[in-house]
Amino acid sequence: MSASNTQFTSKIGLIAATVGSAVGLGNIWRFPAEAQAGGGAAFLLVYVLCVIVLGIPCMLAEFSLGRQGGTDAIGAFARVQPRQKGWRWAGALSVVTAFLISVFYMVVAGWTLEYLWQSLSGGLFEPQDGLAPGYDLFVAKERQYVASGFRPLCFTLLMAVVNMGILLGGVRKGIERLSNLLMPLLFVLLIIFSIVSLTLPDAGEGLRFFFSPDFGKITPRVILSALGQAFFSLSLGMGILVTYAAYYPPQTRLARTATTVSVLDMLVAVLMGVIIFPAITSFGLSDHGIEGTTLVFVTLPEVFLRLPATWLWSSLFFLLLSIAALTSTVSILEVSVRTLQDRLHLSRRRAVMSVMVPIFVLSGICALSFGPLAHVEIAGRNIFNFLDFLTAEIMLPVSAICICLFVGWFVPDGMLKRQLTNDGTLRSYVAGAALFIIRWVAPLLIFLVLISPLL
Ligand code: PHE
Repeated sequence: MSASNTQFTSKIGLIAATVGSAVGLGNIWRFPAEAQAGGGAAFLLVYVLCVIVLGIPCMLAEFSLGRQGGTDAIGAFARVQPRQKGWRWAGALSVVTAFLISVFYMVVAGWTLEYLWQSLSGGLFEPQDGLAPGYDLFVAKERQYVASGFRPLCFTLLMAVVNMGILLGGVRKGIERLSNLLMPLLFVLLIIFSIVSLTLPDAGEGLRFFFSPDFGKITPRVILSALGQAFFSLSLGMGILVTYAAYYPPQTRLARTATTVSVLDMLVAVLMGVIIFPAITSFGLSDHGIEGTTLVFVTLPEVFLRLPATWLWSSLFFLLLSIAALTSTVSILEVSVRTLQDRLHLSRRRAVMSVMVPIFVLSGICALSFGPLAHVEIAGRNIFNFLDFLTAEIMLPVSAICICLFVGWFVPDGMLKRQLTNDGTLRSYVAGAALFIIRWVAPLLIFLVLISPLL
């Protein structure tokens, strides 16, 4: 592999790849559900504040650690601070977290691919067991596509094969090229859907829910869930940004990149709100469920059914979802691939295969969590839900706290500032404030998120 294949080549390419990682199912289906539960506009407001005040500084911590280290997420800790060997465990935690997330995220990505296929082939809207297209049919289809044994397994494996192909292409020819192609398409699709949604009858009612805040709804719980959502959505604490920043050229302006990525990521979440809330209020579907899979697999197909060219809208939407899922899965797998390449000195090809073989097996098992393996429970949850809980609620916050503490207190003096100013060649107005947040505010607030289920 040529050396140049380990660096992003263009500014647009590196932004597209990083935004591609950040924009995932977290924005598209977790955000609207969280926003609905948190009172719409009230949640949105807190979320935006969390991204700006905490998310961007934490992203800068990961970027500077990654670029300073110039290697994988474990090696970055070791290289930046060779005297304190214990910190590499923090790196190891982020790599393990990333790997476990990829195990179950691949399954969700597989569902999106199946729905894309079923939309294109028309299967999703085909009557079955005497049920005409509508709520009951979509619930039945969801059970079939998500909870049967064979189908989810096939599509999960298919998604893993696609990921493998891209990862084998390397950073520039695989990841960057894919992102350059798909991210503009994703934004075009979002804009088309926003226009469709805004022109529906009574769109205003849904928009009011989403945009006019009722400050009384801002409770500590809403604040903590907005913070958790902001961190997940920006791909923080997973080693992804540390890994990607190692591929940034020295002249990349980290503060500008973090701001652009965060704003685009927020924009996608906001556009999803603009799409979903008018659509469901306009068709009187607000009480049909906006929680997780129900929103995407039942309520939205009901919306498409009420639009002319149902097939087209459904296909385009699941294409959007598959793109979002793919650019995220690739980024999270890259964390493990890079780690094997740099820690064990494996070739790219070997590293990719060493990550993908366990993924085929473990994601394959996980794909059966709602079907044949539904009875297998860990801590009262099926395999899929257990992995989701373990990573999102425990490992991610711990890993994010470790990165903040490391960059805030333990790296050589002035590292953050040097990274933000590209070794003094730029002016940085934010380094001081960012350091303060990374040292004090972020670890404390993330700790609150971590213990919030106990409160
Ligand atoms: N930011 C991603 C999202 O919103 C989080 C993620 C990235 C999850 C990569 C898995 C893999 O979905």
